[in-house]
Amino acid sequence: MPMSETEELPRALRGLAELTVTACHHWTDRTFSFTCERPQGFRFRSGEFAMIGLRDGDKPLLRAYSIASPNWAEELEFYSIKVPDGPLTSRLQHLKVGDSIYMRPKPVGTLVHDALLPGKRLILFSTGTGIAPFASTIRDPETYEKFDEVILTQTCRELHELDFGHHLVAQIREDELLSELVGDKLRFIATTTREESPQMGRMTDWLRDGRFAEATGAALDAETDRVMICGSMAMLQDHKAICEAAGMVEGSNSEPGAFVIEKAFVD
Ligand code: A2P
Repeated sequence: MPMSETEELPRALRGLAELTVTACHHWTDRTFSFTCERPQGFRFRSGEFAMIGLRDGDKPLLRAYSIASPNWAEELEFYSIKVPDGPLTSRLQHLKVGDSIYMRPKPVGTLVHDALLPGKRLILFSTGTGIAPFASTIRDPETYEKFDEVILTQTCRELHELDFGHHLVAQIREDELLSELVGDKLRFIATTTREESPQMGRMTDWLRDGRFAEATGAALDAETDRVMICGSMAMLQDHKAICEAAGMVEGSNSEPGAFVIEKAFVD
């Protein structure tokens, strides 16, 4: 409910943007996405996250969320897990069109082009809702100006958890402008680990046993590949070890490298 003009905003909420929710979609019983208004003048780089959440009395209850919408879009999109007893997501999952969310309008993050050296292939490894920052990256024209090939991977436990990613890629293919921009540069490799599907297994296993090289035409190459990784802590550590074994150096905003990592945020 938007704040009435006469109500004074509690001190803890000042500086936060109050944004109206414009759409919600429940993908599985564990995941949902929603869009909201974008504040005027709010700029972000593809792959960044912002603190968003709800009002909890006079205080905000905020968590880090990757912005899933492209940086040129009029609205902001977020993709979230539902944690049954999570302080924020247990409430956030009941969002309806017209509700308000709060956002600290200071986006940050390392899954950005600025943190990577120039390269030929951009490989985006994700598990679960870790695909969210890459939903932005794969719709950014800069991605295709900088790289000849973009490979997005997502590994989930069950088949339906891949729907968000499949829908995203289908949307790109159906969009006249985006499809022209992306051409045949984008590949989506979607795998499951706990439900039968056409492609199974963790991407870390695919990298180790040669299935990744077979599917994409080449093993990881520190000279020409640039990598972004987003998932659980354990997933990040395993992917990081594989990148380092391939001779890659981790990058940051101040010192670009061959790969960057960021935890997928949960309650
Ligand atoms: P698995 O089913 O073999 O654990 P979660 O929901 O636990 O975050 O997992 C999401 C997906 O990430 C699952 O398919 C899971 O596979 C996979 N996964 C979990 N840990 C790792 C890891 N250390 N490296 C690669 N993939 C992982």
